Amino acid sequence: MKYLVVFIAVVVALATGSPVPSDSQQCAACSPHARSLLSNLSQLMDKEGRAKHPHLFAGFNCTEQTTEMIPFTQTAVVCQPIAPANTSCVNQRNSTFSATECVRNIRDDLWYYNHILKSYIDGVQNAVQDLNLVLMATKTLMSCLQESCPRLSAERTLPEWDVWNGSPFDDRLSLCKALKGFHIRAITMNRALGYITSGDHRKLN
Ligand SMILES: *[C@@H]1O[C@H](CO)[C@@H](O)[C@H](O)[C@H]1NC(C)=O
Ligand SMILES: *[C@@H]1O[C@H](CO)[C@@H](O)[C@H](O)[C@H]1NC(C)=O
Ligand SMILES: *[C@@H]1O[C@H](CO)[C@@H](O)[C@H](O)[C@H]1NC(C)=O
Ligand SMILES: *[C@@H]1O[C@H](CO)[C@@H](O)[C@H](O)[C@H]1NC(C)=O
Repeated sequence: MKYLVVFIAVVVALATGSPVPSDSQQCAACSPHARSLLSNLSQLMDKEGRAKHPHLFAGFNCTEQTTEMIPFTQTAVVCQPIAPANTSCVNQRNSTFSATECVRNIRDDLWYYNHILKSYIDGVQNAVQDLNLVLMATKTLMSCLQESCPRLSAERTLPEWDVWNGSPFDDRLSLCKALKGFHIRAITMNRALGYITSGDHRKLN
């Protein structure tokens, strides 16, 4: 299989050499890119989008597949806004919110999805254009976060997330499941960046 990619644990080196802004609200600059990513993903994963690319999801119903999330990031937990003290929110976690921790997990997610999409696209003859757009939007948001957000420059070794099985059918199935996860994650990313941008987390800390 051409795109059977073995993900070696890779050190994400993010030393950018640019001055590190001290305010997490700098991440606000990236919100439009997060929206682009989400709308590109929606375009691909919504009903019409899937109908537009019948061969990408041929042979199975993507809607009915399980959603595969990256097992190595904690974005859903660490990016959860703090609920005001006594709402009856079941998911209420502890009372600290770290914008840095949240953005770092988002950055790691994007890093994984960038690799997944790239390895898939590199392995097929002609990938659908909408998939290329999602990849581009992923890269754009990732570089924006690296450049604009404070304290992200720590190097970090990420475990491999190997989603490809070998057969083209299985790989399309894996792609469907991973994209469903990415779609959900992109919604979380947009919410989280909105929350960080609003500065509300600081009022509560
Ligand atoms: C896929 O499954 C969903 C939910 O079960 C259903 O609503 C939809 O009609 C199915 N699509 C196709 C093309 O069979
Ligand atoms: C929530 O807080 C408000 C005001 O601080 C108080 O009046 C109310 O009783 C509290 N509710 C619960 C469920 O603790
Ligand atoms: C609160 O968050 C910190 C840091 O994320 C974590 O180490 C701790 O276990 C959490 N406590 C609870 C009760 O969830
Ligand atoms: C999709 O992503 C591209 C590249 O990042 C962006 O230029 C474009 O505006 C996005 N499309 C939509 C519908 O947001």
